[in-house]
Amino acid sequence: MRERVGRVEGKIAIVTGAGSVPGVGYGTGKAISIALAREGAKLVLVDLFPERAEETKAEIEAEGGEAIVVQADCTKWRDCSNMVLEALDAYGRIDILVNNLGLASPGVATEMYERDWDRVFDINLRTVFLCCKYTIPVMLGQQSGAVINLSSMSAQRPGRTIAYTAAKAGVEAMTFDMALAYGRKGVRVNCVLPGNITTPIATNVLKSFPGHERMVKMREKCGMLGIPGDAWDIAHAVVYLASEEARFITGITLPVDAGMLRTTGMSFVADIRESIEEEMNEEA
Ligand SMILES: NC(=O)c1ccc[n+]([C@@H]2O[C@H](COP(=O)([O-])OP(=O)(O)OC[C@H]3O[C@@H](n4cnc5c(N)ncnc54)[C@H](O)[C@@H]3O)[C@@H](O)[C@H]2O)c1
Repeated sequence: MRERVGRVEGKIAIVTGAGSVPGVGYGTGKAISIALAREGAKLVLVDLFPERAEETKAEIEAEGGEAIVVQADCTKWRDCSNMVLEALDAYGRIDILVNNLGLASPGVATEMYERDWDRVFDINLRTVFLCCKYTIPVMLGQQSGAVINLSSMSAQRPGRTIAYTAAKAGVEAMTFDMALAYGRKGVRVNCVLPGNITTPIATNVLKSFPGHERMVKMREKCGMLGIPGDAWDIAHAVVYLASEEARFITGITLPVDAGMLRTTGMSFVADIRESIEEEMNEEA
């Protein structure tokens, strides 16, 4: 068991997408949940697939922490409302909400079907709205709370992912709006912007591209630091924003990206992909 410092000791935290898809390494939701538990929080692990959240729960309990699992499809208001009721039933309060759930999706305007646009918006934007809609009233009643939303590099840099880009930009805009609406009532709302993070979902998606090994290497080296990032990098930033150490911080987007946002953008990654594909076509 890791040593506990207790930066969120006794706090109750909901994390959406708290499981991890099968694959190598940790998804951010799983790492965030474990990191919060290590710092003393009790977790409400929310996932569409409860067996995935159960794995997170088992890891938390193996380290002496406490968690419950709530099965929910966070695109549905009834599930989000139930998530809050189950959290209150188990722990009586909610101090932290991490809207981790989200999924990247490629596609430019002219090639995107309406139903795909709607799906990307449902997963990335509607879930954040609904989870906040039902959780924040509890925080307002307590006159304290911290909400952390997961954005993406795509919100601020083009990547030929029009719906994902627009939805994540919406997540950031909603964050700023809620920070203003609830700041004087004790609720802080912030965003974490992950750069290129190696997670099971990202690895599985990259595998579908031709020349993916080179793609992975280039992706890892994109930032100023030239090192790969993982889910724990995101988790530690979330723990900080959730803790009292960040009591004077609201309405921000915190990039956790090895400096990538300051230098290159997602178009750089898309360009690399295109040039690898061109090279491979020439070789064939
Ligand atoms: N990995 C990256 O490089 C990267 C980069 C930028 C932004 N992000 C963002 O980080 C966040 C986490 O990404 P991740 O790939 O680590 O995912 P993750 O592994 O943290 O979350 C996946 C989990 O979400 C669950 N889930 C899917 N749909 C659901 C629904 N409707 N309701 C409830 N649960 C549902 C899945 O079952 C799965 O267990 C996302 O918001 C993503 O957009 C990731």
